Amino acid sequence: MKKRIVLAFGTRPEAIKMAPVYLALKKSQALEPEILLTGQHRTQLEQALEIFGVPHSRNLDVMTERQTLPELAARILPKAAEAFREMKADYVLVHGDTLTTFVSAWAAFLEHIPVGHVEAGLRSGSMSEPFPEEANRVLTDALCDTFFAPTEGARDNLQKCGAAAKRVFVTGQTAVDAILFASKRGKLPDCVPQTGRVVTVTLHRRENWPVLAPLAACLADVARAHPDWTFVFPVHLNPIVREAVMPALSPCPNVKLIDPLEYGQMAALLARSTLILTDSGGLQEEGASLGVPVAVVRNVTERPEGVDAGIVTLLGNDPSGAMKAFSGLMDDEERIRRMARSKNPYGDGYASDRIATALEARIAELL
Ligand code: UD1
Ligand code: UDP
Repeated sequence: MKKRIVLAFGTRPEAIKMAPVYLALKKSQALEPEILLTGQHRTQLEQALEIFGVPHSRNLDVMTERQTLPELAARILPKAAEAFREMKADYVLVHGDTLTTFVSAWAAFLEHIPVGHVEAGLRSGSMSEPFPEEANRVLTDALCDTFFAPTEGARDNLQKCGAAAKRVFVTGQTAVDAILFASKRGKLPDCVPQTGRVVTVTLHRRENWPVLAPLAACLADVARAHPDWTFVFPVHLNPIVREAVMPALSPCPNVKLIDPLEYGQMAALLARSTLILTDSGGLQEEGASLGVPVAVVRNVTERPEGVDAGIVTLLGNDPSGAMKAFSGLMDDEERIRRMARSKNPYGDGYASDRIATALEARIAELL
């Protein structure tokens, strides 16, 4: 009988990077994948899954308006444990660094179900940036049986933390699989001009909340100084983010503040962009995959490969310093061209197949 692999996830980035893993596992003769959604996100989760057409077995539907991290953790833990039990999970797969990631891994661990971590081993080296994602990753890795590291650097980080070498597989990033799949199928949103230069903007990370309003004000100045560029900013549904960024940017005619995009549209927007300005993790990998330079509003990144390859630049998160550096990049066509020519360090689009093969081998040994 096939072994039941429950893929547990709950937010937009996890869904985008786990959907290709589900599709790869579906081809396995030995494994039967099923999806458990925690529902940490609601609309953004549905929008992420739409283009992949993957079914889920259950949704714990835990999201509430303005949820706090402790409340969220307390809602996920018992419900996830119960679901794993009822679904008769032989093995659980989690992804990345969200609260869903860590709490689902913990729930499986408490149920004596082995857990594999997709996108394991990324480290910024600072527990405060990204917050709480660095801690979520470290804690998840402490509980896992198998580690699917997207890069050799991630593998080295895991081995420094004591992970057994034979349980760590370097697979490439499933974000590459996802963006290659979606950018072929997605349709450009109507608000995006067919010609001219476009910047895709996303900002939402918790450690940037205190500087989001001044960042938006400085970005508005950059937009006013570059009237021939269009800035497309799909604003995260978190009211804290919307209240911080919308007042300064909504008066700018060349800034399109829009609701979050379904992933196919987002992929088409990214492929159409000249630059990406973001504090997201996934957009760093997607920019690298599409050859679109990424300027990151953070002081540190747990994804140093993009910086080393030259496709990603770190701006810091001081509002005026970061936006001055970004404006300089917009004005430097030669630098943009050079960055865009960088090699993609995140993979070749076959990470999910490698994960399926490695997992089959591990399960044959374990169960
Ligand atoms: C979470 C992750 C973060 C990830 C991000 C991806 C944690 C601690 N954080 O942060 O690592 O980068 O998701 O986007 O796990 N909301 C909606 N509808 C949605 C989604 C969110 O209304 O579809 C609103 C709700 O009011 C919710 C709030 O956003 O309470 C915050 O959502 P939450 O998942 O707690 O935090 P994110 O900032 O999205
Ligand atoms: N994304 C999307 N629609 C949007 C904004 C982002 O589909 O309106 C995708 C984006 O392409 C990437 C992922 O969501 O694949 C990034 O998620 P997010 O920024 O929420 O999380 P992070 O990467 O910071 O963890």
